[in-house]
Amino acid sequence: MIPRMRAVIVAGNWKMHTTPADAGELAATIARRTNEPDVVRVLCPPYVCLAAVRDALATEPAGRDVAVGAQDVHHEVAGAYTGEVSAPMLRGLATWTIVGHSERRRDAGETDALVNQKIQRALEAELRVILCVGEQLEDREAGRAGTVVRDQVLGSLGGHQSGSWLTIAYEPVWAIGTGRTARGVDAAEMAGVIRRTLGELGFAAGGEDIPVLYGGSVTGGSIDEFMAEPAIDGALVGGASLKPDEMAAIVDRAGLTAAARAAAATA
Ligand code: PGA
Repeated sequence: MIPRMRAVIVAGNWKMHTTPADAGELAATIARRTNEPDVVRVLCPPYVCLAAVRDALATEPAGRDVAVGAQDVHHEVAGAYTGEVSAPMLRGLATWTIVGHSERRRDAGETDALVNQKIQRALEAELRVILCVGEQLEDREAGRAGTVVRDQVLGSLGGHQSGSWLTIAYEPVWAIGTGRTARGVDAAEMAGVIRRTLGELGFAAGGEDIPVLYGGSVTGGSIDEFMAEPAIDGALVGGASLKPDEMAAIVDRAGLTAAARAAAATA
């Protein structure tokens, strides 16, 4: 059955790519190539490119509906944290932020407790949050994927019971940047784990209204498998989000799901 109307979302995580000189043009090109009003589109460039992307999208007619997101926020509002960027600093630059990406968990040692604080800071700054969770390969092989992801959701979201601001991206670590994707059925099963855990936390309707995206080597060639799953509401795209052709194909496929859901909701 097609679920109750949840938004279909495609978010691009540009990671440490692009410069202020080229990011605006890339964003405008992607906006033109993905002009699909039923799909929520978010582009997350590096901090130093946020202004260029914001300005390019504001002047591109197809860009007005494309949101700008940051890739992270600090867990404090201000202070002696050299090189860091806090949530209030993003006002006027971004309306979304990713938190808890596995590359930050890996490289910056971010824990679920820290991610929980970051989410709090993001909310205070009225940012919409894409929370990333996902297991390592050894967890999956040991049959622990569900437990690991449940713990991440509990730790990152403890204290919250509703979330019109929240999107969760299930990103198995072994699928990120490897060209290897999860199977659609496995991603759907993990979306089930995530929503059951939201239910445990006390989220209304067992988290049924919270969008869950898949992330990990998504391309125009692999998106279909995920969008065919009613439990999956879109994708968090890394490498392919720098390629307008790939983004066009991904958003195109996401648009089919969005249209099918809209038709089911009015039937
Ligand atoms: P990838 O990255 O699409 O390059 O695997 C996804 C992500 O890290 O969000």
